[in-house]
Parts: sequence; structure tokens; C-alpha cells
Amino acid sequence: MHAVTRPHSIPLKSAEEREAMRRAGQAAAAVLVMLEPHVKAGVTTGELDAIARDFVLGPLGCRSATIGYTAGGSRAPFPGAICASVNHVVCHGVPGPKQLKDGDIVNIDVTVIRDGWHGDTSRMFFVGQPSVLARRLVETTHAAMLRGIAQVRPGARLGDIGHAIQSYAEAAGYSVVREYCGHGIGRGFHEDPQVLHFGRPNTGLELEPGMCFTVEPMLNAGRAAVRELPDGWTVITKDRSLSAQWEHTVLVTETGHEILTLRNGEA
Ligand code: MF3
Ligand code: CO
Ligand code: CO
Repeated sequence: MHAVTRPHSIPLKSAEEREAMRRAGQAAAAVLVMLEPHVKAGVTTGELDAIARDFVLGPLGCRSATIGYTAGGSRAPFPGAICASVNHVVCHGVPGPKQLKDGDIVNIDVTVIRDGWHGDTSRMFFVGQPSVLARRLVETTHAAMLRGIAQVRPGARLGDIGHAIQSYAEAAGYSVVREYCGHGIGRGFHEDPQVLHFGRPNTGLELEPGMCFTVEPMLNAGRAAVRELPDGWTVITKDRSLSAQWEHTVLVTETGHEILTLRNGEA
């Protein structure tokens, strides 16, 4: 009867749990750093997946959260240690025989489990020389993610994050994908809350120190509508326009936030 009641059931991470999440986040970030020199014309997304898987399960000493992932039993097991989403693929691209070619843009998304805790991050890569349009989409999406993350501090609300992302993206002429969102993360891969990448300021869940979630906006050069392919995973833009995504795992701290999956030299 003395339990503190809160208007939500989001677990708040203790100091020890925050350190565990930091270590998981840094492991996930290390996968993207390791992959960078391998992302070039001629390589297949399946080869990149094998490189990532060997690194995650070997030297990194982690498990892959995506190999065999069924989204709570609702989907066929995902086969890869990475998602590789090329050009008009929005997210959840299944690694396979597709060869990267000069001018492609590709998102690589990796989620690892370290000592029972999840780290989830993705970034865009240019294969060779991107078009001016592709570069602008990729850079705008990165900036949109950072603007969303910049909102994160105690007392802010989830709608502040969504609004910051949506207003920036739409002012640049891009659309925000609605069907997929950021998510709470911890011992579970996809926990509450849902972190929408659109919304209105001063609405939604109020942020508290110790909350942990991802911010992972997907921006399309054309319309927002997406479609899932018959493989049950790959998501593409309906109008086949280019799509970009970046993702970080973020911790709400007493004074603001900490990006747990930050790479050296980013932001
Ligand atoms: N990493 C993705 C996310 O950001 C989820 C990928 S699930 C998979 O939430 F099965 F497609 F790998
Ligand atoms: Co995620
Ligand atoms: Co991810």
C-alpha cells in the first residue's frame, strides 16, 4: 500500500541497469563501425550479414536479437543479424543475394543482446557516390533524428519528440512513415512505450529519468505510404521513392539524455 503509483508502467533503469544498457548500446554501435569498410559496390547484403553475425557472436560476445526473431510469434523467424534496407526499402530488409551498386543508399540496422540487455541502432551508408537527392534525404533524416533526441529530458513528452521530427522532415519536403516507430528497450527488444516520429508538442507520456527507448525515424522522398513484401518482413515505399532511416537507443537522464549507441565522431 506504500507503493509509489505512476500513471504508466515503463520500467525505470537503475544505475546498474543503465550501465548494462550502455554496454549493450556500445556493442551495437561497434557492429556498424566494423561494417563500414565492407559496405561498397559489389558486396551482397547477405555477405554483410555474415560478417556482422560472425562479429556479434564471436569477438563481441553477444547474442543477436534479430536472428530467429518472430515479433511475438506473429511473423516468420527473421534470418539475419542485420536488416539491410536498400534505396526504396524502408526497413526490415532481409539480407540476401542483392549486390550493392554505386549510388545506392543502404540502412543497416543491428540489435544485439549483451548480458541480457538490448542495444539497437542503425545508420545509412552511401555506396560510392550518391545523387544530390539521395544525399539530402539521408542527411535530413539524420538531422531529424537528432532533433527528436534533442527533446529528450525529464518533463518533456513523447509528442515533443514526434513533433520535432515531423516538422523538420516536412519542412524539407519529405514524408514521415507512420506504421513503424521507436520503442522502449531493455531486457526486452520492443517494449512500451511506442515512440512515434510524428505528433503534437506537449502530448503523450511524460519522460522520466531512467526511461530507455529508441528514436528511429524513416523519411520518404515521396509519399508516406508503405507496403510489406510477401516475405513478411521487407517494407518498401508504395511509390518506390527513396527512403532513409537512422536509429539510436537513448536513455533519459536526470539532466537530459544520453545516446547509448553513439559512435565516435558522430553528432
Ligand atoms: N531493429 C529493428 C528495430 O529498430 C527491428 C528489426 S526486427 C527484424 O526495431 F526482425 F526485422 F530484424
Ligand atoms: Co528499434
Ligand atoms: Co533497429
